[in-house]
Amino acid sequence: MFLFFVLSLCTLSAHALDNGLALTPPMGWLHWERFRCETDCRQFPFDCISENLFKAMADKMASDGYLDAGYEYVIMDDCWLAMDRDSEGRLQADPDRFPSGIKALADYVHAKGLKFGIYEDYGTKTCAGYPGSLDHLEIDAKTFAEWGVDYLKMDGCNVTPDEAMEAGHLEMARYLNETGREIVFSCEFPLYRGDKVINSIMKFDKKLIVFQANYSVAIEACNLWRNYNDIEDSWVSVTNIVNHYKKNQDKYVAVAGPGHWNDPDMLIIGNFGLSLDQSKAQMTIWAIWAAPLIMSVDLRTIKPEFKEILLNKHAIKINQDPLGIQGHLQTTINDVDVWLKPISPNVGGEFSYAVGFVSNRDDGYPYRIEFTLRDFGLNNTAGYVLTDAFVSDETTVVKNTDKLEVFVNPSGAVLWHLVANEA
Ligand SMILES: *[C@@H]1O[C@H](CO)[C@@H](O)[C@H](O)[C@H]1NC(C)=O
Ligand SMILES: *[C@@H]1O[C@H](CO)[C@@H](O)[C@H](O)[C@H]1NC(C)=O
Repeated sequence: MFLFFVLSLCTLSAHALDNGLALTPPMGWLHWERFRCETDCRQFPFDCISENLFKAMADKMASDGYLDAGYEYVIMDDCWLAMDRDSEGRLQADPDRFPSGIKALADYVHAKGLKFGIYEDYGTKTCAGYPGSLDHLEIDAKTFAEWGVDYLKMDGCNVTPDEAMEAGHLEMARYLNETGREIVFSCEFPLYRGDKVINSIMKFDKKLIVFQANYSVAIEACNLWRNYNDIEDSWVSVTNIVNHYKKNQDKYVAVAGPGHWNDPDMLIIGNFGLSLDQSKAQMTIWAIWAAPLIMSVDLRTIKPEFKEILLNKHAIKINQDPLGIQGHLQTTINDVDVWLKPISPNVGGEFSYAVGFVSNRDDGYPYRIEFTLRDFGLNNTAGYVLTDAFVSDETTVVKNTDKLEVFVNPSGAVLWHLVANEA
């Protein structure tokens, strides 16, 4: 099965977007889940979408260890724009909330050693009703490059999600390339061409549209793409996303790889909705999936125990593994999902692995599951050097035939980092 994955990656990579970026899943911070579209800076001076918010987050990312851990992109989402383009047709930021302008903000972020990301929408308007990029793709690409943008998230509201939308993203990728600036391109059209539109089919009833995202186009145009609904601040929201990925896992695993990633949306760790155990579970699954690690949390007030999860170096190392293989659900034991991700180093033909044990249970106590690594298809007879990611840096050597056990808390997770031993 793994041979199949690796082969399909090679085939697809031949047509992948050739900008040399996102060779491991992008890591950063994005305002949307936590800060939404709050534009009232009088009532909410610390939370409104303004240059002050992004400067404050950039300060924290640089000073509090996030940048050192790999989180490098500070990304604005919707609601940064003024309601009109300027006299030359260029986008402009809201003048009250971004009085210094976007170029100055990008300079500030860059001076901290970070990279700067921005949001637009492929349609006539953004989801929140600000000017969209349709019919302005080229000038918008140029404007972003001039401002020093390093990452563009392109949404898909307010446009018919037909095949022209896919062609339009290839066109945008070309305009970004022509600027000569290295800009990560984060897309949402697979979501709008896939699951989301099924609920809003009536809106587009004048035209027959085949609602099926073309992932060849996604790989060719984009460094990452959303496949499913926005994440919200709850465990239910996380499990909805996980269930969708489980249902589509063969399709999704086959299209992910260096430079082109599935994006299950932001990490909500440190907000209001997830317990500590559930936060470890989100971190575990996102690490196994090789998902972009994009935080959306107030870094000024995050509690240290949640910060520690976001900065867990084993989880990050697993996520950032250079092979870039998206992990998959291997089996479920006693309602605990066992996720596997092949990682480097490969020793004599045997991968190393991350194994994530994630409990679907919401009852009782830490359930015990018993297994051998061979049960999961791990065949390195010289064994594995095991680190229990959320427990300590200590290592033990385990054989693939040893009888092992883990205890997994209800809606919690255990993440094992297993490095194949030399024979
Ligand atoms: C533009 O694309 C070409 C090849 O298609 C690639 O070699 C080059 O690095 C790209 N430039 C940027 C800035 O992405
Ligand atoms: C998907 O896009 C590719 C590349 O643009 C194209 O060759 C292929 O025919 C498309 N597939 C479908 C099912 O439309």
